[in-house]
Amino acid sequence: MSEILNRVSADSFLETPIPEESLQNILNAGRIAPSAKNRQPWRFIVLRDPLLKEKIKDSAYGDERFSQAPVAIAACTTNIGYRMPNGELSYPVDLSFAISFMMLQAEHEGLGSSVITTYREDEIKKILTIPYSMKVLMMLLIGKTEKNGDREIRLPMDRVVSFDHW
Ligand SMILES: Cc1cc2nc3c(=O)[nH]c(=O)nc-3n(C[C@H](O)[C@H](O)[C@H](O)COP(=O)(O)O)c2cc1C
Repeated sequence: MSEILNRVSADSFLETPIPEESLQNILNAGRIAPSAKNRQPWRFIVLRDPLLKEKIKDSAYGDERFSQAPVAIAACTTNIGYRMPNGELSYPVDLSFAISFMMLQAEHEGLGSSVITTYREDEIKKILTIPYSMKVLMMLLIGKTEKNGDREIRLPMDRVVSFDHW
């Protein structure tokens, strides 16, 4: 699938607005992503206001991409306690699926994206009035890009896959 093969994290964005239909398609891709027991423990806060993005940028150690990207999405939890049958917390997994779907849809729309986790979460929660008990698991920046960076090297197949035993 070309979206998977071509996607790379954007190092920079153009400030050009993105089409509303593309944004809706991206948000819908996250909305319909799978989650444990279909609990959908997420709230996606879409940020387009330049002043708001500037505030978030300050909490993200001045990452310029918050000024550049026309859209930033804060991927938040609505439940943090639920564990899957294997004992692991479900929200990091659930939200990661949703964000992955959004990234691939963004690629499909001809847009770049970048996951950001380098921020002071407590400050972002205050700015976006997120309840104290909830979390901002990651931010996703979306926008047009001038050029894609090179693909970062991945481990070879035989290092990451084995058959029938470890
Ligand atoms: C869970 C997660 C957290 C990440 N956090 C950041 C981040 O805080 N800042 C950043 O610039 N990139 C961040 N990234 C992007 C990764 O560095 C990037 O995906 C990785 O280097 C592979 O490059 P590629 O996305 O271009 O294939 C994050 C990616 C993931 C999946």
